[in-house]
Amino acid sequence: MLPDRILTRREFVAGAAASTALIAVPSVGAVQAPAQTTPQAAVRTTNVTLMVNGRSRALTLDTRTTLLDTLREHLKLTGTKKGCDHGHCGACTVLVNGKRINACLSLAVMHQGDRVMTIEGLGTPDDMHPMQAAFVKHDGFQCGYCTPGQICSAVAMLEEVGNGVPSHVTGDLTASMALTNIELRERMSGNICRCGAYSNIAEAIAEVAGAKG
Ligand code: FES
Ligand code: FES
Repeated sequence: MLPDRILTRREFVAGAAASTALIAVPSVGAVQAPAQTTPQAAVRTTNVTLMVNGRSRALTLDTRTTLLDTLREHLKLTGTKKGCDHGHCGACTVLVNGKRINACLSLAVMHQGDRVMTIEGLGTPDDMHPMQAAFVKHDGFQCGYCTPGQICSAVAMLEEVGNGVPSHVTGDLTASMALTNIELRERMSGNICRCGAYSNIAEAIAEVAGAKG
């Protein structure tokens, strides 16, 4: 049946909302179905001991805990940052037995007895690692969120170059390894800087590389 008059748009919307609310309210005395619950998997824990920044740390962890969450949540070493938590950004880069890894992609239980170095272990404000000092000197950051990962990554990257480890852009595998600009950018490509401080980061790393050579 047609209404006596044409409804305004406002009246139509208000009426539709009221009808929906009525449908949503259960009638008095209706039996409510019990809420569906997902059975919780039993939490499995294990003991693990890490050597973090030169100090032995014994922990009891849920076996699913990443190294990143172990450092940040259990050891309160919040210098290591969580960016993507998926291995894309490099913000979580730390050194494990001298090699750089993405701590978000590694379970802590895989590192029993390993030496883990975070940005806190590299240096302090009063006694900075040369790479930290170079980042300050060259203004190699804006917000600073990516910086701990950049610095840890750069330190390990120079070790790789010094040890003759080739990269994807290394042309001559028999020549002595040189940190050209394109090598530097390729080798640091796993560390994203959302502020785009790349040119200053590259200058800082190049200075330390030059000082080493
Ligand atoms: Fe680990 Fe982004 S937080 S790679
Ligand atoms: Fe802000 Fe790199 S300095 S993300």
